Amino acid sequence: MENAEPEKSKETVRKRADAIKAFRCKNLVAVIEDPVDIKNIGTVIRNANALGVEKVYIVDPRKALPDDWQEMRERKSLSKTSVSAVKWTFVKRFNNTDECLDHLEKQGFVSVVTSPHVKGKKNVFLHEGDYTTHTKLAVWFGNEKRGITESAVDRSEMCVAVPMFGMIESLNLGTSSGIVLYEVTKQRREYQSKYRRSRNKGKRSEPLPTVMHRGDQDR
Ligand SMILES: C[S@@+](CC[C@H](N)C(=O)[O-])C[C@H]1O[C@@H](n2cnc3c(N)ncnc32)[C@H](O)[C@@H]1O
Repeated sequence: MENAEPEKSKETVRKRADAIKAFRCKNLVAVIEDPVDIKNIGTVIRNANALGVEKVYIVDPRKALPDDWQEMRERKSLSKTSVSAVKWTFVKRFNNTDECLDHLEKQGFVSVVTSPHVKGKKNVFLHEGDYTTHTKLAVWFGNEKRGITESAVDRSEMCVAVPMFGMIESLNLGTSSGIVLYEVTKQRREYQSKYRRSRNKGKRSEPLPTVMHRGDQDR
């Protein structure tokens, strides 16, 4: 099966978990707003895990998912579509957009939305944005048909677009999450490698590595 991961020993899993810790982007959350397709949900969780995003939040007004992460981890459809990434990346569900934004803002997170279209006050192409200015950042992805909601746009700092060059107006939700989160995590890993957790804690004397040695990749 294309998506199956080979069984690994407990020892190998533990070593890998230790090796990746330093590369995880702290205080970075990917939010999916009202996703419908379980394959897209699984793909976003897989991308978040692979790229080192700390958490995934899902706005789930249809109540398609369980509240409890442990139950999500046991749900076959999520485990299958995320290739078990749901076991390793914390996922939290919310009943609606405002509930999720209230939670994020209470914790000090700033949101940015993504859309192929111009939305809200500030619009940037992916490569133009600086994703390191806020210690806590939430990156929002919209519904497959309707895109991102006005409520999310209104309470976000900016709207990020992946430049499009074809006849199709948008990318698939899962695909766009991979492209956007690659750039955001790359920038934040570089930043984390140079600075301590928050800006006022200052620069590290030696930058930390931003990629794993090729040999460690295969563990
Ligand atoms: C299939 S698209 C939704 C298309 C919808 N017709 C719209 O107007 O946005 C699903 C989500 O993927 C993300 N997305 C798709 N294409 C994108 C692009 N070119 N730039 C940034 N985000 C994109 C956005 O988060 C979007 O809400």
